[in-house]
Amino acid sequence: MALSKSKARVKIKELITEINYHNKHYHAYDDPKISDQEYDLMYSELKLLESKFPDLILENSPTQNVGAATSSGFKKIKHKIPMLSLNNASDQNDFIEFYEKLQTHTEDNIKLYAEPKFDGLAISIEYIDGELKSAVTRGDGNIGEDVISNIKTIKSLPLVLNSKKIPSIMTLRAEVYMLKKDFNNLNKKLKSLNEDTYANPRNVAAGSIRQLDHKIAAKRNLQIYFHGVADMDPNFAQETHSSYMNLLKKFGLPVSELNHSSSNLDNAIKYYKEIEKERENLPYEIDGVVFKVDNLKLQKKLGQTSKAPKWSIAYKFQSASKITKLIDVTFQVGRTGIITPVAELETLNIGGVKVSRASLHNMDEITKKDIQIGDYVLVKRAGDVIPDIVKTIITKRKNTKKILMPKHCPACGSIIKKIETQAQYRCINQNSCKPQIKQSIIHFASRKAMNIDGLGDSIINDLVELKKIFSYADIYTLRYNDLISLDRMGDLSTNNLLKSIEKSKNVTFDKFIYALGIKEVGETTAKMISSNFKSINKFFKTTNDDLEYIQDIGPIVSKNIIKFILDKKNIENIKNLLKYGVNIEYNLNEKLTNSKNESFVITGTFNNYTRDDLKELLAAKGLLVSNNISKKTSGLIVGDKPGSKYQKALDLKIKIILEKDLIKFLEEFH
Ligand code: IVH
Repeated sequence: MALSKSKARVKIKELITEINYHNKHYHAYDDPKISDQEYDLMYSELKLLESKFPDLILENSPTQNVGAATSSGFKKIKHKIPMLSLNNASDQNDFIEFYEKLQTHTEDNIKLYAEPKFDGLAISIEYIDGELKSAVTRGDGNIGEDVISNIKTIKSLPLVLNSKKIPSIMTLRAEVYMLKKDFNNLNKKLKSLNEDTYANPRNVAAGSIRQLDHKIAAKRNLQIYFHGVADMDPNFAQETHSSYMNLLKKFGLPVSELNHSSSNLDNAIKYYKEIEKERENLPYEIDGVVFKVDNLKLQKKLGQTSKAPKWSIAYKFQSASKITKLIDVTFQVGRTGIITPVAELETLNIGGVKVSRASLHNMDEITKKDIQIGDYVLVKRAGDVIPDIVKTIITKRKNTKKILMPKHCPACGSIIKKIETQAQYRCINQNSCKPQIKQSIIHFASRKAMNIDGLGDSIINDLVELKKIFSYADIYTLRYNDLISLDRMGDLSTNNLLKSIEKSKNVTFDKFIYALGIKEVGETTAKMISSNFKSINKFFKTTNDDLEYIQDIGPIVSKNIIKFILDKKNIENIKNLLKYGVNIEYNLNEKLTNSKNESFVITGTFNNYTRDDLKELLAAKGLLVSNNISKKTSGLIVGDKPGSKYQKALDLKIKIILEKDLIKFLEEFH
């Protein structure tokens, strides 16, 4: 998908912040906030953007270093050889691509050595003259933590090697993990004590290794398996990775019994499939298969990036789906009053992440999937932030209750109305329905709008609950005493927040329009409005005719704009903003056109949109619609009963966007 350089710059920064945040939670706090799939998705998006715009690669990008920082308490140790990470293959195509790339480097048949990818904690272990001397966590790849006293509690790890001839030095890489049965027993015990349980064995293993008190690790019955040699006494040098693994076995070090040599691609894929099938029956958790070029000379020739070797890949398993019970349905109110049904599920664990809620999207989706309260449903987390309900298990249906859209808003009690021609319902009380007020203030303060640094969701929530503000304009009436009295606010944070509120008063016209939160007016449309009206007063007086003149503003968006400016409350808010000192900066020279040079094609029929609706939605984001598929087409929007364009798009490997994914897809464009 073509993305302008300036957009790419912004997106890259966003992705880096997000990925670094999750790295820290995963590696330093042992408390992952998202699934591996979601992480991998963001990571590959970043990599793709960086490959398209190499001069935008930033120093703090996770692709340039391995990630996690250390937490305090342990002695820091620098790795003699950095501990790298692995590149991922998320499907068979990725894996084949990896293999074919390898094949371009040699005439010989490539022999791959495969190992299960244990889901645990990476550790570097050093034996000197046969004695276990050090054990260091990966940390940021260069500096890790000395956790030797905890590692020594692992029963299967020899403190002294038992062999006639022993290398003077060897630095090895291993994974510390926990058996499923030990994990289940631990959680059972915690539950009986009414204490919080762990989400997955990895968290326990990582958590115990990073406890200062080694008695905790000793109680966990942790396991270890070796999968790499970073440094070896030259007298023991080998020519292949597999012979190194055999050597380690001879020294009595645990190496997986499932390791396997594949002589060609088919064989490697066959092994992957076998392991995937066996996965559930294994006594420990694995999340993929790691393939490594066996020949060490070839490994050296292939080399590595600063993050990962080019001779290895982690071919990950697809995320699992699981069945659980739908206990209830609640209804959430969004910024523009749209009511979204949310499934409240009997808590389940998918791929190590606890799931207890899932979006049901809208009433049509519920009807289509025939979902009722009390049903057993198949839930899937696959790259999506919010888990999805795939289907209902009708055969298990017993005493269920139909899901009905409430007549009144669950938050404010006002009437709920169905939006014409769409599957959505809306609470019409936009000026005094609390969730709507809160969301509109959150939007107003957000980075791309007024950019009020420090005014986060929870502060906004408290300010509204305590009736200190009733609309976004009231932000500018806040004084020191209003803020210092809030939970978690100190003198410094209060003063900083007041400063950023003051700073936000100088704002460009387009950001100001965007901040108002007019329905369907995203950043691009806000820019179009700002460049066409040149002043807020002119914008107030706009008519349908004026708006239709503006390129790509269609009837739905203009209706929303007119409705917005006819609402007295909105005008009062804007007047107040100006009164409180908001100073709009106008760019009088700029003339914008709204095209991003991205063209999309539509095929099939849609449940919630007419063709014109779709065109308008795309146009509002600066995207064009064309009739014919070509190599240059950015994506095909596919409804029911698609025509021949669908096959053509598949042949040309053009991105396919389904109706259910459309809104999420469009959100990516600003
Ligand atoms: S090799 C230079 N082999 O997965 C390559 N890693 O996602 C270093 N892991 O940091 C890694 N099983 O902690 C390798 N058989 C295996 C593995 C494995 C699990 C972990 C390891 C690594 C992470 C990368």
